[in-house]
Amino acid sequence: MTLTAPEPSPAVTPVARAATTRSYLMCPPTYFDVVYAINEWMDPAVGVDIDLAMAQWLELVRTYRSLGHHVTLIEPVAGLPDMVFVTDSGLVVDGVAMGARYRSALRAVEAEHVLRWLNANGYPEARAPEFVNEGEGDFLVVGDVILAGTGFRSDPRSHPEVADRLGKEVLTLNLIDPTYYHLNTALGVLDDTTIAYLPKAFAPDSLTLLRARFPDALIADEADTAWLGLNLVSDGYNVVLAAQATGLAAQLSARGFRPVPVDFAEFRKSGGGIKCATLELRGARVRTKQRW
Ligand code: ARG
Repeated sequence: MTLTAPEPSPAVTPVARAATTRSYLMCPPTYFDVVYAINEWMDPAVGVDIDLAMAQWLELVRTYRSLGHHVTLIEPVAGLPDMVFVTDSGLVVDGVAMGARYRSALRAVEAEHVLRWLNANGYPEARAPEFVNEGEGDFLVVGDVILAGTGFRSDPRSHPEVADRLGKEVLTLNLIDPTYYHLNTALGVLDDTTIAYLPKAFAPDSLTLLRARFPDALIADEADTAWLGLNLVSDGYNVVLAAQATGLAAQLSARGFRPVPVDFAEFRKSGGGIKCATLELRGARVRTKQRW
């Protein structure tokens, strides 16, 4: 009798995922508040619970450190209630940094503080961009490619400017739904080749581009993006995401990633999530050991 090997199961083949150590810049939410409305999520009448916000932010810091990542802090500044969303204030790729330029004058000063920090902490050549550019709010790095959002915040002319300064291919994505005003509310980067996104946030031409370049992307559901579930931070294996984004977490597990849920909901009152609070210093030259 001949024994034949069993047919391989048609179930999802587990993919070996690998985490790499990251460096993140974060800003304590000491002065976090919602006192103006520059996106659909913000309502100054609602009020924030600052103690809860601080506790959620500290838990995010603790989570990153427990995963082995480096967290460096920038001093918060009174009168800048959105400075906790430090990702919007810069873009650092392969050890080369750029500052940001905000569309709203209400956030303009944040960019100056973060640029000064970058200049003093290993990126003396970093400069402010010429065109409106909200940093990693709209520019997301996927391996050697940078996905760049426009439509609500960053000026489309900032896209070639970034390509030129950082020497990377930049793909323009047109955002069409004001709820998802920054690219990082509509698209999350999981590793150097894998993304997750919400189709309805993108113009038809951009969807065609995403489908062509990322045919195996995870497709998110609005039940998760309404909690800013795509505003996630991945190290290639561990995916830190909003605790309420349970559908996306299940999809991630099925694809071999490890979801790490963190409740960051107090910041949702400002239209910000986990990724917004986390600026990745890729190819960081200075690794400051700092304790909070
Ligand atoms: N209130 C801030 C703003 O509207 C939130 C920014 C959150 N950052 C983000 N990348 N989505 O600018």
